[in-house]
Amino acid sequence: MIKNEKLMTKRIAVIASGRGSNFQAVINAIAARKIPAVCAALITDNPKAYAIERAKKAHIPVRVIDYHSFPSREVYERALFSAMQRLDPDLFVLAGYMRIVGNEIVRAFNGRMINIHPALLPSFTGLHAQQQAIVHGVKVAGCTVHFVDESLDGGPIILQHCVPVLDSDDEDTLAERILHYEHICLPEAIRLFCEERLVIDGRKVIVR
Ligand code: GAR
Repeated sequence: MIKNEKLMTKRIAVIASGRGSNFQAVINAIAARKIPAVCAALITDNPKAYAIERAKKAHIPVRVIDYHSFPSREVYERALFSAMQRLDPDLFVLAGYMRIVGNEIVRAFNGRMINIHPALLPSFTGLHAQQQAIVHGVKVAGCTVHFVDESLDGGPIILQHCVPVLDSDDEDTLAERILHYEHICLPEAIRLFCEERLVIDGRKVIVR
């Protein structure tokens, strides 16, 4: 039993830019042994990210690649890419990473990188998805966990969860309602990946 558990255990690494509440949900799920994985590192582009404190508390190594310390996006991406190659985990988890991942990185980790997005994709890609949902007047919103491909928030969808949008909602109240389910969906998607139950079939992800 213990041997099987060891065989199943995956190495994941999380990339986050800010508060890190999704990262915390992943830390908690690993600690509760709901995900058969170890978190090998947090990578962040933001030296002020609260996610760093969360990593330290959980004794997870942190790699800060400060976006603003690089002369260009290209040079930053090269540093990010080489940090990712050195880590080489089974899975990269984008948990509130607020930058577009360059195509070279996406291709290198094809099928091994997932992202959580606070909208029901393919609607409302990019930043401020919750505000986009409010402005558009939709009646349901939600979150999506998907594999990362070369499109913006457009890769094959693993899990989604919807919530109602109330007439009284603003960006913050809707974001909070969605976030509750992000903290459930992201660990769940990681668990399915680590249990080798996700099969990408074109645009579809089959859960075995
Ligand atoms: C989350 O709502 C996540 O879905 C979103 O940023 C927030 C990060 O919160 N990500 C994106 O918008 C990516 N385009 P957290 O730092 O507390 O996890």
